[in-house]
Amino acid sequence: MGKGRRLIIAMDGPAGVGKSTVGQLVAKDLGYYFVNTGEMYRALTWKAMEEGVDLKDESAVMALAKRLSWEFKPSENGTALKTFLDGESVSSHIRAEEVSRSTSLVAAMPSIRRFLCGLQRGLGKAGGVVMEGRDIATHVFPNADVKIYLDASLEERAKRRIRQLRSSGHSAESAGVRNAILQRDRNDLERKINPLAYAAGATLIDSTRLSMHGVARKILKIVKERQKQ
Ligand code: DC
Repeated sequence: MGKGRRLIIAMDGPAGVGKSTVGQLVAKDLGYYFVNTGEMYRALTWKAMEEGVDLKDESAVMALAKRLSWEFKPSENGTALKTFLDGESVSSHIRAEEVSRSTSLVAAMPSIRRFLCGLQRGLGKAGGVVMEGRDIATHVFPNADVKIYLDASLEERAKRRIRQLRSSGHSAESAGVRNAILQRDRNDLERKINPLAYAAGATLIDSTRLSMHGVARKILKIVKERQKQ
């Protein structure tokens, strides 16, 4: 592999583990784009809720997904590719608790997963990307150059999620956030199609006692090794 080749870095792990923060640090260092695929599932869920689409009706949600115009534009700092639906940024809408809860329903729909997986492959296929989600190394890019499975204890993830929610102006109460994460872990792990799983060849990093910069440094070391091969 040539040193200059732009790699595909796939990162999976449970809710609240810090994939976005770490992914952006890694992408920034490498001059790659960071893609948060959860944002796409959240965006569609938010739009469906806005439009009164029944979230239990897969064909109605799929019809909406196809009708929308999906665009991915660089964030202000140029590192992340952000989702726009029909020309509107979804960022300020998709972190609300109702959206987080309902997204599990949409993420369990096989046709929606196929549709979004197609968009994700389109964004990443040329390389130079750090993509995070639940099924990136197992399904979206099983041949990714670097595969990371990021984990952390439930307590630590709940703490991080509370900080994230509060910093974006949402209220957060700890037992509620912990239970919501537990429920989302169950949904992600028990989903029939493309559940969260450790991919063959992935490196497991437990971030419970590591800073986000510490995790990013570990990943960058793996990337540099891979670039030498
Ligand atoms: O990473 P996140 O918490 O923003 O993800 C939102 C939801 O989307 C969560 O229920 C898991 C789901 N998801 C998924 O099923 N597959 C992905 N590749 C990314 C997210």
